[in-house]
Amino acid sequence: MENSNSYISGIGSYLPSQMLTNKDLEKMVDTTDEWIVSRTGIKKRYISAKEEATSDLATKASLSAIEDAGISPNEINMIIVATFTPDMMLPSTATRVQKNIGANNASAFDISAACSGFIYGLSIAHQFIINGTMKNVLVIGAETITKYVDWSDRNTSVLFGDGAGAVVVSQNSNGAKILGFNLGANGNPPREWLMLAGGGSVNRDENILKGKKNFITMNGKEIFKFGVNILPATITTVVKKYGLTNEDIDLVIPHQANRRIIEAAAVILNIPIQKFYINIDRYANTSAASIPIAMFDARKENILNKGDIIVLAGFGAGLTWGSMLIKY
Ligand code: UT7
Repeated sequence: MENSNSYISGIGSYLPSQMLTNKDLEKMVDTTDEWIVSRTGIKKRYISAKEEATSDLATKASLSAIEDAGISPNEINMIIVATFTPDMMLPSTATRVQKNIGANNASAFDISAACSGFIYGLSIAHQFIINGTMKNVLVIGAETITKYVDWSDRNTSVLFGDGAGAVVVSQNSNGAKILGFNLGANGNPPREWLMLAGGGSVNRDENILKGKKNFITMNGKEIFKFGVNILPATITTVVKKYGLTNEDIDLVIPHQANRRIIEAAAVILNIPIQKFYINIDRYANTSAASIPIAMFDARKENILNKGDIIVLAGFGAGLTWGSMLIKY
């Protein structure tokens, strides 16, 4: 089998129609627009409708990415959905997307790596393309987190939003290529640092509702510290691994969890903050969807351009992290 290059051939995104501003939240929980903006950078977020499933958002983002790649759904060989808010435990969200978009020749599965899920998914796609077994892999980050938010908990309810982003990873191109990645995990810290316990094998009974286990809970301070340390670490690792320096980087597209985490990472890395794409103000934290949505927006705004050397970097529950070095 021949070795091939993999590259990003299409990008798409989709946000639900209903929007919730910080001012709206002021009426729901003890918070203020001023606190949310100054502590996180978030101004608004999108909320999926009651009947809207994660696969619905993923389907729309996928169709936009496939159109952008200039291929037909039948040419997709594999569909990977990164999410911690799947439609259901079984079957996978990815098989629903396969049906919805008519990707009749694709295998399909979900992966669970929280906010790092999109990077993990991209690394899987990269393997199948460079070893020559596949031509087009669809990687989607899609979440309906607001369905798992306790709106009375101000520690979490102000932070999250819903959305989906997707890319098509394809074989060969004129110079554009995925250069490589860094992935990591550390399961030692308490799961309580960032957890959605209900529905899994540990919490299956009446305790789910009684103990509010069906809602996301977080130790914001610990996750904040983790993010500030791991973002620069994983970016430095991937950049060095492929013989580049921080000066070679045109654009960093980080997971959008908190503007202050991104700013702190920029200082540690000594990369100007202007080289970091930030859109958390519009969408809040959409977990696995945040990086592909940011890629879509950055390209629309002509901030992401052909030939750019970019780094994608994420971190999240688990703990997990990952970065991806790309010549776009
Ligand atoms: O995708 C990865 C997962 N998520 C993250 O990466 C999030 C990481 N963590 C964070 O972004 C930050 O820790 C938060 C935004 C969650 C919190 O920011 P902070 O600067 O760490 O605030 P804090 O928890 O230290 O709270 C400061 C104060 C407290 O009041 P006192 O004790 O100083 O009187 C909180 O009670 O702010 C209060 N507070 C709020 N006030 C208004 C906490 N949440 C709110 C709120 N509105 N929503």
